[in-house]
Amino acid sequence: MKFKNKVAIITGSSRGIWKATALELAKNWANVVVSSSKLESCQKVVKEIESFWWIALAIQCDVSKSSDVQNLINETISKFWKIDILVNNAWVGNTKAFAEMTEEDRDFIMNINLKWVFLCTNQAVKHMLKQKSWKIISIASILWKTGFMQASAYCASKAAVVNMTKALAIELAPHNINVNAIAPWFIKTDMTKESLENNEVSKMLLNHTPAWRFGEAEEIAKAIAFLASDDANYIHWETLAVDGWRLTN
Ligand SMILES: NC(=O)c1ccc[n+]([C@@H]2O[C@H](COP(=O)([O-])OP(=O)(O)OC[C@H]3O[C@@H](n4cnc5c(N)ncnc54)[C@H](OP(=O)(O)O)[C@@H]3O)[C@@H](O)[C@H]2O)c1
Repeated sequence: MKFKNKVAIITGSSRGIWKATALELAKNWANVVVSSSKLESCQKVVKEIESFWWIALAIQCDVSKSSDVQNLINETISKFWKIDILVNNAWVGNTKAFAEMTEEDRDFIMNINLKWVFLCTNQAVKHMLKQKSWKIISIASILWKTGFMQASAYCASKAAVVNMTKALAIELAPHNINVNAIAPWFIKTDMTKESLENNEVSKMLLNHTPAWRFGEAEEIAKAIAFLASDDANYIHWETLAVDGWRLTN
């Protein structure tokens, strides 16, 4: 009952880590808004949540479009009257040698991975400032700090998310608003399926993972649930690594 009477928006939550996060928050009594670019996929998640008698709402939202984001916030307010928790996710990336990267590649990745955090947070803050307290958690990646070959734009976009998190955290702390980020290493989802199913790549990645396994979506969901809870009321500005000790390896 950690999130009783709380309203949580989770962007890009039709599958993977973010679907697991929606389930984790709903299980602890949050009213959850499940959103992604595909309404049908969100409705399936909502049905799953409702089958446990938890409360959820599906809203289509492509986070790279400000009109969709505005609609996401408006529909949430009109259904639940407030927003307590915003979990910012959605991503694009590619694996390309730097010399082969085009301006379009760079713009596409930076546009979605950074702009969506800005758009969603900017729209939500206008409502949240009227409340007593609330939480924003954005998704970075441990690659924001370590870098990774053939992923220059992705790594740059995640470093930008981390620094935006820090700047926002300082600005919003006086309003009792906690802004933090999560930085996972390799987690088993659709995003990483191809790499993890390739024995050679997977072995190379495990050699950089002292815990000697890849993470589960539910393990990130639990870390997000912690940052979204009152247990984290005095945590501002943090980028929490959930990485099987990758960062220090
Ligand atoms: N998995 C990892 O190892 C790992 C590690 C570090 C960081 N991350 C971060 O975690 C996120 C990816 O999550 P995941 O691994 O769970 O991947 P995933 O299974 O591929 O899920 C991605 C989610 O994002 C949604 N999405 C994509 N583009 C969108 C858009 N324009 N608007 C709204 N929703 C959109 C997708 O839904 P629709 O297709 O229905 O729109 C889907 O629900 C990224 O931010 C990534 O940087 C993942």
